[in-house]
Parts: sequence; structure tokens; C-alpha cells
Amino acid sequence: MTDAQLDLGDLGLDAGGHLLLRRALGALRAGERLAVRGRDPALPVHLGAWCRSEGHALDVSDGAPVGQCHAVIVRGERADLRWLGAVRAGETGTVGTRPPAAWGMAARGALLEAGGPEPHFDLDDRDLVWADVAPQLYAHAAARQWDPATAVPWEEPFTLADDVESAVVQVMTYLVENEQVALLVPARFLGRIHPHFREVLQLLAVQVADEARHIEVFTRRALLRRKALGTSSAAGRVSLFTLVEESDFSLASFLLSVLGEGTFVDLLGFVATHAPDPVTRRVTSLAMQDERRHVLFGVAHLAQHAALEPRLRDRLRAAVERRYDALRDMAGLNADVFDALVVLAAGDWTPEAIRSGYLRVRQLERQMDEGRRRRLERLGFPADEAAELSALHTRNFM
Ligand SMILES: [Fe+2]
Ligand SMILES: [Fe+2]
Repeated sequence: MTDAQLDLGDLGLDAGGHLLLRRALGALRAGERLAVRGRDPALPVHLGAWCRSEGHALDVSDGAPVGQCHAVIVRGERADLRWLGAVRAGETGTVGTRPPAAWGMAARGALLEAGGPEPHFDLDDRDLVWADVAPQLYAHAAARQWDPATAVPWEEPFTLADDVESAVVQVMTYLVENEQVALLVPARFLGRIHPHFREVLQLLAVQVADEARHIEVFTRRALLRRKALGTSSAAGRVSLFTLVEESDFSLASFLLSVLGEGTFVDLLGFVATHAPDPVTRRVTSLAMQDERRHVLFGVAHLAQHAALEPRLRDRLRAAVERRYDALRDMAGLNADVFDALVVLAAGDWTPEAIRSGYLRVRQLERQMDEGRRRRLERLGFPADEAAELSALHTRNFM
């Protein structure tokens, strides 16, 4: 039998020589021999240690010329054992129904050496977290990221009356506190979702990044001409806290995305339409585009889940009722926010203008209600039930 040959030259095993050894041995079967030569002074010692750790036998020749190492490696049986019983963590392109805990730290589709940790991800059920649209939504989200520094005309000149500027600052203050909650809720679930559902992780991670930008641009608009923010009502914060407290992924997505962010899409569109300056118009319309995507994912994964598990709707309904009961005695929307919206929609201080601003805000509330009913019907609620549940949604919008 002719031995396979490998000349390492002066390359040592401490500088990558093991890659050449492994490659050469990979072409051999157990028991076959590889003749190795090299000039690295440490080679005889390193070869011994490496062969022991890899499970090969080694024979170093005494007769090599000075400064040279001649050796023969016999490929061992044990070298193949490491991957004996190795399984793949599913298939790259296929999303499994219930990925095992042991897959959690590996890429989907990787060949897993036996052993390793079995981290517990409690959201490990495809029906619970997955939506078929998640990969496309992630691609869309990644492509639509915008830079707050350049996407908004911060320097564009405009002049606003003092009380209109106050109304803008009040609306921005309210938006920021809502955006903070919209960031916290998906962020808290990210670490609980099995990484096998990586497109969902990626999508929610970008969603969190979207909310980070919304917080930034709304804060920056509020402070563009003022040193202080507007007011934050206790009732508004109580309402938001019920979202942060919800630990069930389906219920939290339902309350936040389907009902809250859905309602916010209408609100942001309203502020963009009645914005008195180009910066306010731009920041609200940029955020609205992102919010549409957040709503799409919430509706998609819950619609898919509800189709498989009809009793999900009972739980969703109970969640709305529970939240309504918890907030029953609360004022709902911060009155300062309502008034600021009226001022923005009025555009002037005549009684006629204020009346029409007021009517436009009432019209906005009806539009929000219609949107919620439409999305509830997408989840399979009959029209009368959808109307009933939409009416129970928090008056704080989110
Ligand atoms: Fe947002
Ligand atoms: Fe959002």
C-alpha cells in the first residue's frame, strides 16, 4: 500500500498546519496511513498531542535528516466517532413544528455534535409564533430601514404659533411613551422564542429597532424648539402597563399589534395629515409605514394560530375584557392629548375651525374603530363580536 503524503514545509501546527493534516486524513479510511514531513522544530511534539486528541496513531521516524521530521499517521477509528449519532437541527429551509431544546444554540440545519446544552425556550411551538409571511416581512423590514439623521428634514425652516407648537410637543410626548412600550413588549419575548424560528426573531428584532427610531424622532421633534416635554397622564401609563405585564405571547401580540398598533396607524396618519410643519409630517409618516408592518405580522400569526386552534379566540376575547375591567375607572386618553389633536386638526383658533377640528378627531375615533373591527374579523370574529370587542379597547389608543 502506498502511503498518502503530506509535506508541511516549515508550517507548524500552531500556525494552521492541522488544517492540512485533517484535510489529508479526511480522504483516508480508518487504518490507512499518511506520511508527513515538515521542518517546524516543534512538529514532533505537536503531532503527538494532536494525534492523541484526534484519535489517530503516530509513528515518528528516528532516521530523518537533522532539522526534519518524518512521521506516519495511521487514521484512527475514533476520529469518526465524534460525528457518530450527530443529527441535523432540522432542515435549513423547513420550519419544524416543535424544535427540540438541544437545537436552540445551533443554526437551523446545522449538524449537531452530540452533547451540549438544552436551553429552555418556552415559545417553541410553531403554531404559537410562526407566520408564513414572516420571511418576506423581515426582508421588507430590513430593506425599509431609514436613518433618522437624513430621512427627516430637521433643518427645514418653518414658523408656528406658540400654542400650535405646544400641541405638537404634547402629541410627541404621548407618542414617545407609547413607543417605549411598543419596544419593550416584543423585546421581552425575543429571548423566549426558540431560535429555530429565526425569521420571527429577526422580524421582531427589526421591529424593536423601528420603535427605537420612533422614540428618537418623536423626542427630537418635541425638543426641536422647546426645552421641556408635555404631560403624561397616570391613566395612560396604567393602560400601557397592562401591555407590558402581559406574559402570554399571543395575548400580548393581540393587544399590542392587532388592537394598539393598528389604532396607532390611524393616529399617525391623522397627525401626518394635519401636521403644521414638515418635520412633524415626516416623522409621523415614517413611523406609520413601520407600524403597518408590525400590525401585519401580528394579524398574520394570530390568524394562522386561530385557524388551527379555534379556542384561541375565546382567550383573545377574555384578554380584551380583562383589560377593559382593569381600566374601567380610568380616564383613558390624556385630555391634553385629545385637545392637542383638536388644535392640530383645527389649524386655526376661530370657533368654526375648532368645531371642525373636534369633529375630525371624533371621525378619527370612528376610523380607528372600523380598522379594529376589520382586523378582528380577519382573526375570525363574527362582525357583531368584533364590534363589541373593538368598543372595549382602551381609550388610550395603544
Ligand atoms: Fe412605533
Ligand atoms: Fe410598532
